[in-house]
Amino acid sequence: MNEKPMRSPNIQIAADIIKAGGVVAMPTETVYGLGANALNPIAVARIFELKQRPSFDPLIVHIADMDNLNSLMVNLDERVYMLAERFWPGPLTMVLPKSDIIPDIVTSGLSTVGIRMPANDIALDLILSSGCPIAAPSANRFGHISPTTAEHVRKQLPDVDFILDGGSTNIGIESTIIRLTDIGFQILRKGIITKEDIESLMPYDLQTRIDKLSSPGQLKSHYSPRKPFLIADTATLPSKSKSNAGLISFSGTLEEGFGKVIRLSQTSDLKEYAAGLFGAMHSFEDDPDISIIFAEPVLETGIGLAIMDRLRKAEFYWKYEHSI
Ligand code: TXA
Ligand code: MG
Repeated sequence: MNEKPMRSPNIQIAADIIKAGGVVAMPTETVYGLGANALNPIAVARIFELKQRPSFDPLIVHIADMDNLNSLMVNLDERVYMLAERFWPGPLTMVLPKSDIIPDIVTSGLSTVGIRMPANDIALDLILSSGCPIAAPSANRFGHISPTTAEHVRKQLPDVDFILDGGSTNIGIESTIIRLTDIGFQILRKGIITKEDIESLMPYDLQTRIDKLSSPGQLKSHYSPRKPFLIADTATLPSKSKSNAGLISFSGTLEEGFGKVIRLSQTSDLKEYAAGLFGAMHSFEDDPDISIIFAEPVLETGIGLAIMDRLRKAEFYWKYEHSI
């Protein structure tokens, strides 16, 4: 994991671009975001255009202080403040009833908006200096691997107005997304903040149905490298030569015979797996010696659930749609 980056001298330049309706890639603690003024529908439209993202997939709005939150949501709910107190700034997105100042394009026409306060000084500074909340999806082309460095953004989105370089992001996978129900909370996307973490504050709601329309963007295929990608198991692993294969390794037990191996942790720490996963995918994707990528599966508990979610989505296209 990287050390906290130095304050960027480029924040003012980036803030001026945001104020003028431009689009800036910014670091957060999870992955890089592609940000624009969340209250300016034309600026937000450019995010969709640059990312080639379908308009049915809503964006997360990033804030830097709680005053901001109060103007963006309606139906004050004390639980929101409890959660914010505990997890913000941090990798938790709450889907909340939105106020009218948020343009429909941000939420794909939904009456709710996903909001989070990122735990990254550059992002917080940028939001404050821009004087507006910043709508930002992950700064990758739609369906591709999320970026954890400025270089990953440059590779996929060369036309972005400005990239604020804050070094490698330290969490490495996207925020946990939750919504609140009458009974408790539900998870719309798994992340580093787990169900158990949130259960210490309120019950997990197993009952209330989540209808598809209120939770778009839950695609089966995502984060897909442009090379064949598979979860390493006995059924997928080639028995013979693996010299053109790259392995994203965790335990060290599968490494034999692979052309290249990226070991993400020396101490079996799942946080390190999450932090390095997308970077390893990018690295093999760019490596001319590698033509197929494997990733070691992990147990599906705690953070392991979020990691396996990303691996399955990355594998989906190659396994079921492309059938390798
Ligand atoms: O860590 C993160 O969350 C990163 C950084 C940049 O903050 N952002 C991110 O954004 O991952 P994105 O656009 O790649 O994923 C956001 C997902 C959408 O695909 C959608 O599933 C969900 O958030 N979402 C956003 N607003 C929603 C809403 N109102 N209701 C339900 N889901 C929503
Ligand atoms: Mg994304």
